[in-house]
Amino acid sequence: MCSRKCVVPASVLTPTVAVRVAREDSVATRRPLGRVMIRGAGGGENGRVARGGGVWGGVAEESGIGVVQELYLGPDDLRGGGSLEQGDEGSGRRHWPASPTKLLFAITIREGREAPEPSIRAFFYSLLQIRSQETAQKLKMVKICCLGAGYVGGPTMAVIALKCPSVEVVVVDISVARIAAWNSDQLPIYEPGLDDVVKKCRGRNLFFSTEIEKHIGQADIVFVSVNTPTKTRGLGAGMAADLTYWESAARMIADVAKSDKIVVEKSTVPVKTAEAIEKILIHNSKGINFQILSNPEFLAEGTAIQDLFNPDRVLIGGRETPEGKKAVQALKQVYANWVPEDRIITTNLWSAELSKLAANAFLAQRISSVNAISALCEATGADVAEVAYSVGKDTRIGPKFLSASVGFGGSCFQKDILSLVYICECNGLPEVASYWKDVIKVNDYQKSRFVNRVVSSMFNTVSEKKIAVLGFAFKKDTGDTRETPAIDVCKGLLGDKAKISIYDPQVSEEQIQRDLALKKFDWDHPVHLQPTSPTAVKQVTVTWDAYEATKGAHGVCILTEWDEFRKLDYVKIYENMQKPAFIFDGRNVIDPQKLREIGFIVFSIGKPLDPWLKDMPAVV
Ligand code: UDX
Ligand code: UDX
Repeated sequence: MCSRKCVVPASVLTPTVAVRVAREDSVATRRPLGRVMIRGAGGGENGRVARGGGVWGGVAEESGIGVVQELYLGPDDLRGGGSLEQGDEGSGRRHWPASPTKLLFAITIREGREAPEPSIRAFFYSLLQIRSQETAQKLKMVKICCLGAGYVGGPTMAVIALKCPSVEVVVVDISVARIAAWNSDQLPIYEPGLDDVVKKCRGRNLFFSTEIEKHIGQADIVFVSVNTPTKTRGLGAGMAADLTYWESAARMIADVAKSDKIVVEKSTVPVKTAEAIEKILIHNSKGINFQILSNPEFLAEGTAIQDLFNPDRVLIGGRETPEGKKAVQALKQVYANWVPEDRIITTNLWSAELSKLAANAFLAQRISSVNAISALCEATGADVAEVAYSVGKDTRIGPKFLSASVGFGGSCFQKDILSLVYICECNGLPEVASYWKDVIKVNDYQKSRFVNRVVSSMFNTVSEKKIAVLGFAFKKDTGDTRETPAIDVCKGLLGDKAKISIYDPQVSEEQIQRDLALKKFDWDHPVHLQPTSPTAVKQVTVTWDAYEATKGAHGVCILTEWDEFRKLDYVKIYENMQKPAFIFDGRNVIDPQKLREIGFIVFSIGKPLDPWLKDMPAVV
């Protein structure tokens, strides 16, 4: 029945009063759209009903939410001097107990005036203002500060700010340019729906700043969402997570803290990181109490806002001490503003940390499994889409994450699996380590298989041939290129001296040049620590148009599944290409049959092979 729930953290209210907002469907004659309920600890079971609602009605009207239709008071309040009775129209302040400890009332939202979040917030402010001076002093707004304004920190905090109007959220970052972008109309990351959320909250209860120490010092809850790259040298190089940025964040938090803090791991970290962070904080605490929580992010780029609005689950891990449990509850209350309670899972710290690595490893494993099958499909004449469909129809397996591709990319899968592998090795579990490592091996195999298909079909050389690359991001609807398979594919083609012309609707030339010049793993360091002037790769040009990129090309490689690539005019593309014209679809976005009819020689992952490719080896 309840379509939306919004629980205001108890800490913004007096210790004895908790406020809960719920929206319910109603069939009242005024066709209200919903109800906002504010309930005190005592609950409303014994309460009485008043129509009109006096001062509360005024508050509701002013805030634009609607009119109070029902007002419930707990018996204690009535004894304490309140005299609201059923039907007591506009009774107002004079009947209200000076310091209500238990109250519950409901407002019916007027038709066409569904309460927007800021109105609810305004409503609460009004509510707080009309409290007695003494009570108001006890009230405190929860302050959240997030270190790291990246793909994870930025959208997550924007959604918390939107869904929790009574919480102040400040996102801080060492990158001046990134913060400036967050404060401008051109946000630093492309994410559908993000602009809207940021516009609604920025300047109200969402702020972006480079004053890291000041805001961390003031926060009750500090989220840490800084980079955790794979180590490039020393112990565990190429596998272990590099916690340099995390460690310095922890030292800084300890340094600037003047009040107790909950420190939340948002970045994906190796299991037991919390223990290390806890040690740093406690040894530098100056008597301040720190609680560490693990609250890993499960958002996927391109759908981050939807994932945050409607998560499958929110995971909060904490210490199993009374203080740890209290901290878990405090964070749970933040999420409970919009996430149903049964989707908020609380666990111990280590389970939370490991669950994140395990979830990403399972997801990546599905892709490597279907990609391994795709190679077999090409060899046998099966169609991987048909196989995946049939396999996914088994409800025990399910249909998601079974699209064969040129390989998975993104900042998480490879890094997290490598971290998992390293942890297994450190714990004396080489068989487990090698099991998970194979997920990455199959992914690398899939990328090199693709390059080999391109080279071998084009008479075993692409030297000085123009190859158009459509799509560079690691998946559609994002401009993110971290660990994108396009990097390895382009490097493979460049290794055979191809001339590459790249088009991606969201990735800039500067980014592409940087990516092709960077060493493996360097991409996950903050930008200011990456090489400042990457030498442009001369064989690469970047265009802002798919037709321009493909003009005069010998071959086209589709490396990201952008929707627009399904709708291109392939006849026009074919006419402007060298012949024979090749198309290599690494994302299965085009219909191979239709393109063959136009005249293309087509390779699609895991699909029955074009006669041209039949006798050519998949791996040279
Ligand atoms: C990051 C990590 O890369 C990922 O492993 C983890 O799971 C979540 O956090 P993301 O938000 O996608 O993911 O990274 P990124 O966009 O690079 O953002 C990290 C931000 O932290 C950068 O803006 C960087 O400037 C900032 N940062 C880094 C700091 O403010 N201080 C530091 O010491 C290091
Ligand atoms: C992933 C997880 O989904 C998310 O829960 C976690 O918090 C971070 O890592 P993300 O990396 O943003 O999110 O993207 P995701 O949608 O998982 O895709 C990862 C890669 O797998 C992409 O390159 C994508 O194209 C590829 N992929 C995905 C496939 O090749 N086939 C599929 O069926 C699904």
